Amino acid sequence: MFESFPLAPPDSILGISEAFEKDPRKNKINLTVGVFKDEQGRTPILESVHRAEAKLLESEKTKSYLPIEGGADFNRQVHKLVLGPDMEPGRVAVAHTPGGTGALRVGADTISRHHHHARIWLSNPTWANHGAIFKAAGIEPLTYSYLNSSKTGLDFDAMMHDLESQGRAGDLVCLHACCHNPTGIDPTLDQWYAISELLHKKHLVPFIDFAYQGFGEGLNEDALPLHAILKHNADAVICASFSKNFGLYSERVGALIMIGESPTNTAALLSQVRSSIRSNYSNPPRHGESIVATILADTELSTLWRSEVDAMRYRISEMRNSFIEGMSRLGSDFRFLASQKGMFSYTGLNAMQADWLKTEKGVYIVGTGRINVAGLSTQTMDTVCQAVHDACRIQS
Ligand SMILES: Cc1ncc(COP(=O)(O)O)c(C=O)c1O
Repeated sequence: MFESFPLAPPDSILGISEAFEKDPRKNKINLTVGVFKDEQGRTPILESVHRAEAKLLESEKTKSYLPIEGGADFNRQVHKLVLGPDMEPGRVAVAHTPGGTGALRVGADTISRHHHHARIWLSNPTWANHGAIFKAAGIEPLTYSYLNSSKTGLDFDAMMHDLESQGRAGDLVCLHACCHNPTGIDPTLDQWYAISELLHKKHLVPFIDFAYQGFGEGLNEDALPLHAILKHNADAVICASFSKNFGLYSERVGALIMIGESPTNTAALLSQVRSSIRSNYSNPPRHGESIVATILADTELSTLWRSEVDAMRYRISEMRNSFIEGMSRLGSDFRFLASQKGMFSYTGLNAMQADWLKTEKGVYIVGTGRINVAGLSTQTMDTVCQAVHDACRIQS
């Protein structure tokens, strides 16, 4: 049966990382990966996570199955963290999912079971996995414009025009709540309110990817676009990831939050989410969920965790500013990066320049020009700036 299987296409970004690993050069620099790095190039376990794990080692009594939608404590805490205290709780169905990816897939599955010809609008560009996830769930991916012609800022008018002119009632619209991946380019809060009104007017359903809460402007500030969207739209899907802000990448913790118009249908909504999960992975993994729930329920641990999220965000911002300054000293203007947020940035470099950087300088960036700002360090900054400055002079 399996002899006829062709080789599946390689993952675009992991492929570059593999090439990086094989590169024998000692001074090579990898700016492609999608994880936070500290100044020493490590992806550390947060101190709050260490302490929560120590606590769990003492207190955990069982490894028995969790409920299909995850534990009630986790779900309550996540609801508070993502939506704040004001959201009417009766309208919200929350489920722990394996990472943000799991949330996207379970949300998509749940919708496509009842809307057989569902379509979703994705920003062009978007996270490389979005299209595959929605397609696998039977939802047709379409794209809306996002970037200006130099690929360094948002073309808000084009985005609104595409959704207004091509969106059909019942279409889903995938929006990155903050720290847009791969560009780092987010709408302003005023623009979020305008997007919210447009979705409402056109009967489009927001499907929000919230993978970087705390990496943009702060844990509370980064949730403001959700409030803008929920102000005008009764139905919404939110997919949260705790991979980045808790550094729990391999523990696979995320949450699907589905909000309906009235509390009367929430039990049915949750039952559909449970049904999607049951036929997929049955129930979620315990350890990561316990860590997140333990931290969020404990005042001391959550204060520590919040300070650790702040520290990760400050480091990203420091690296971003230091890169802009380094480029400016060399005579290259990268001030557009200052308004971008989160780990990723579009540098405006093209595929040929990215390839030149890799081959000639051992600096690995994605062919679209995306860099992971957290992959920069004080030590490597001058080298990277000089290499990027030189690459900018390469014309096709
Ligand atoms: C925009 C976006 N959504 C979702 C995810 C998936 O997150 P997780 O690793 O929690 O599945 C990522 C991870 O890089 C992402 O960048």
